[in-house]
Amino acid sequence: MNTFHIAPSILSADFSKLESEVREVEAAGASWIHVDVMDGHFVPNLTFGPDLVRTLKKFAQGSLDCHLMVQNPERMVPWFIEAGAHGITIHAEATADASALLKVIRASGVRAGVSLNPDTPLSSIEALLPELDLVLVMSVFPGFSGQKFMPEVLEKVRKLKAIKKSHGYSYLIEIDGGIGPSTIKSATDAGAEILVAGSAVFGATDRAAAMKTLMENGR
Ligand code: DX5
Ligand code: ZN
Repeated sequence: MNTFHIAPSILSADFSKLESEVREVEAAGASWIHVDVMDGHFVPNLTFGPDLVRTLKKFAQGSLDCHLMVQNPERMVPWFIEAGAHGITIHAEATADASALLKVIRASGVRAGVSLNPDTPLSSIEALLPELDLVLVMSVFPGFSGQKFMPEVLEKVRKLKAIKKSHGYSYLIEIDGGIGPSTIKSATDAGAEILVAGSAVFGATDRAAAMKTLMENGR
């Protein structure tokens, strides 16, 4: 039996009714809300900035999990801390000194995470693992929701689980991209603890039923 949380990604939500969208998935059991920040450089797409985090804080009860798909995140991290993010995840590929930036995030009492693109090896962040609160394994190339899950990244999830256990590290293992009713179990079995889901939740007419299916299928 796997223990895990679903983090619905508001990238797939209907922005014309964002408040009720968030309330609906929280009522259905979501304790994290995933916020996909894209800058049009690190990834081709462009989404939202810290002002949206400020807006979400007016009604979201859960943890605001900010995924920064931006080049040189050191410019923007202070803005997200100031806006009240509960967690900030930067991309290993996007910054020269991830270690220094993670220290800034942690020192502010915010959960510090690092993300790996599907083709970035775990070895590139191995030295950071002791100081991380979260590792986010991308199971699609970042930029868009609704892409196909890449099962080959599960090997990284399994390794992260094994390293966590053998060293007594405390990072959470999160996976993002293409998680749905048919893929969730492979991710939770591999060791993923936080499952980001965009289209699988907000693409469904009945979001509560979609959350329930994911929770049942991932067990
Ligand atoms: C991809 C984003 C994901 C995305 C997930 O660049 O980081 O969080 O919104 O969407 P689905 O679950 O539809 O793949
Ligand atoms: Zn994301």
